[in-house]
Amino acid sequence: MTQPSETGEPQADASAAATVLSPTPTAVARAAAVLHAGGLVAFPTETVYGLGADACNAAAVRRIYAAKGRPADNPLIAHVVDLATAARLVARPTPLAERLAAQWWPGPLTLVVPVRPGVPTVTTAGLDTIAIRCPDHPVARALLDACGLALAAPSANRSGRPSPTTAAHVEHDLGGRVDLILDGGPTAVGLESTVVDATGDSPVVLRDGAITREMMGSASVQQPAHDAQQRRSPGTRHRHYAPDCRVEVLPVDRIPTRAAELAGQGLTVGTIVPRERRRDGGTVLLAFESIEHLGRELFAALRRGEDAGCDVVLVTRVDDLGLGRAVMDRLHRAGGAVP
Ligand code: TXA
Ligand code: MG
Repeated sequence: MTQPSETGEPQADASAAATVLSPTPTAVARAAAVLHAGGLVAFPTETVYGLGADACNAAAVRRIYAAKGRPADNPLIAHVVDLATAARLVARPTPLAERLAAQWWPGPLTLVVPVRPGVPTVTTAGLDTIAIRCPDHPVARALLDACGLALAAPSANRSGRPSPTTAAHVEHDLGGRVDLILDGGPTAVGLESTVVDATGDSPVVLRDGAITREMMGSASVQQPAHDAQQRRSPGTRHRHYAPDCRVEVLPVDRIPTRAAELAGQGLTVGTIVPRERRRDGGTVLLAFESIEHLGRELFAALRRGEDAGCDVVLVTRVDDLGLGRAVMDRLHRAGGAVP
């Protein structure tokens, strides 16, 4: 819980236990009050859990960076319940953003648009754009509705760790650094929203996610050059999603040999494999039935690998198509490489 400090500033005690509540109307009202007081509330979305604060309260947003240990140059996504709330943050809604919002909101698509002057620079990391997302999860929507604010909310993990898909993951990473956690159960998608630069005439994907390029109509979707992407989406510069063990991404046929080789070196090996290959060796952290299942469980499985004391997690390589592109992106950024 938040403790008043000598300066009167709220200060989280990182070692304290977090308050975890089931999202009843009373709990949601309490969470809204915490947000109005400049506090931090973790809440479920359809993708992953977010760590929310009032997007227009600079001091509250600074607490997000402190709680996560997030680099100050990595801007946040502002979550809104509707277009009217989004309009408070946007300087100029582009025709492209309006079209994409009409098609995909509420849903796991984040739109980068020109920011309205007056939005705290800490929220946008000083960029002249802001990322906005309208989530499609009953608890996220109830909270946004109850507080009437736009909520800056990055994934509710310590910076660099796999995103949290359960309230327990949030508690593990952030504990007493967050005032309140609303527990809405495991999230449905498990991978973060697609981030699209909507400032131009056609969508530019800055981060692959739950709304795939194919769903948006691949023909019109652009992929920025690597350098341009780093400039336009500062988050892609940093190491991300990494559990406390090594991740190797392999064609499924190579997993048994590699598992045996690593076991021979005395290492503890976990595997993430298709269901039909679950008897191939190593401790199975996830036997997935579909790419959606892999997307939903990937981060949780990496965390299970840590809990099981794995030195290495071997993950089946999947095609760079549809949701597979988001899965491979997360694995590459978790340090996953073919040995
Ligand atoms: O699904 C999600 O998007 C989750 C849930 C909680 O909504 N949130 C999330 O936030 O993944 P976060 O902070 O972990 O990732 C936000 C990404 C980062 O890569 C950041 O660099 C990028 O969005 N971003 C934010 N504002 C931006 C901007 N103005 N221009 C370009 N990229 C931006
Ligand atoms: Mg994140």
